[in-house]
Amino acid sequence: MSSLDDFSDILKVDEPLADYTWLKVGGPAQYFAEPQSVEQLQNLVACCHEQEVPVRLLGGGSNLLVRDDGVSGVVLKLSAPCFAEISVEGTTVTAGGGALLSNLISESIKAGLGGLEILTGIPGTVGGALHGNAGGRGGDIGQFVKSVTVLTAKGEIFTRKEDELSFEYRKSSVNELVVLNAEFELANEASDELTQRIRKLWIMKRSTQPLSHQSAGCIFKNPRGLSAGALIEQAGLKGTHVGGAEISERHANFIVTNEKATTDDVLRLVELIQAKVSDRFGVDLEPEINIW
Ligand code: EPU
Repeated sequence: MSSLDDFSDILKVDEPLADYTWLKVGGPAQYFAEPQSVEQLQNLVACCHEQEVPVRLLGGGSNLLVRDDGVSGVVLKLSAPCFAEISVEGTTVTAGGGALLSNLISESIKAGLGGLEILTGIPGTVGGALHGNAGGRGGDIGQFVKSVTVLTAKGEIFTRKEDELSFEYRKSSVNELVVLNAEFELANEASDELTQRIRKLWIMKRSTQPLSHQSAGCIFKNPRGLSAGALIEQAGLKGTHVGGAEISERHANFIVTNEKATTDDVLRLVELIQAKVSDRFGVDLEPEINIW
């Protein structure tokens, strides 16, 4: 039986997590590891399973709020290049789970392949995007998936084809610990046409979202047929703050943080929004962000 000591060369103890997240708040990970190969990752995960040590995967940190007390067990980050490879064959693009979604989009466009450009401006990794079925008004990542190869919390690797996967609004059946890689089926399109489309999307995003501030993107899912941002604005909450966390004046479904913010500030603001929107409109807002 292996022990965590066998991985001491890649394990950091009490690693602060705030700087790995876009909100820049939260406490440390008891153990933090950046495996350098799939084999090393698989062995570490299997060891944690045997030893009953909790394991979490940190993606791009853009949709994540870490509690101020931090997290026990191991936090994994797929920062090694082997987890971020992107390759193109015909109209199929294969990307590592640790690749940035923005890199997947730009490599697809370079290859004259369209589809994923609708995800322009969404931060984070390919694995995170698949787990939460990232998307926007133009569609979501799930509609392009051909297959996903995952590593389970027990350390097993397997591949699921598109007909064995399901994607819903901000939710998917890709719930295993790690996405190792995924294949996307795209369509041939002229690169300059795609670049033009991307420009328009960026202009739209910049004018409606607080992109220059620290945020985790939208905090709440849109309730069916409604807009969380519009409800929060109509409840008169834009600009409301708790400590160093504030409801964005630009888009009410964004909470922005300053350097004095804590996770507790963000959580209190989340609760305040939920209570006010529930009182005023009878709607329960469900967080979109992951809270550790
Ligand atoms: N609105 C307001 N006040 C606000 C914000 C929005 O009245 O403060 C209104 C807008 O005027 C518009 C409607 O609400 O009529 C919808 O707003 P928007 O077009 O900004 O889209 P959204 O539904 O708020 C969704 C995604 C975003 C994605 C955009 C654009 C969710 C929760 N959000 O936002 O995704 O970028 O569409 O595609 O589904 C994210 O998931 O983190 C995210 C930012």
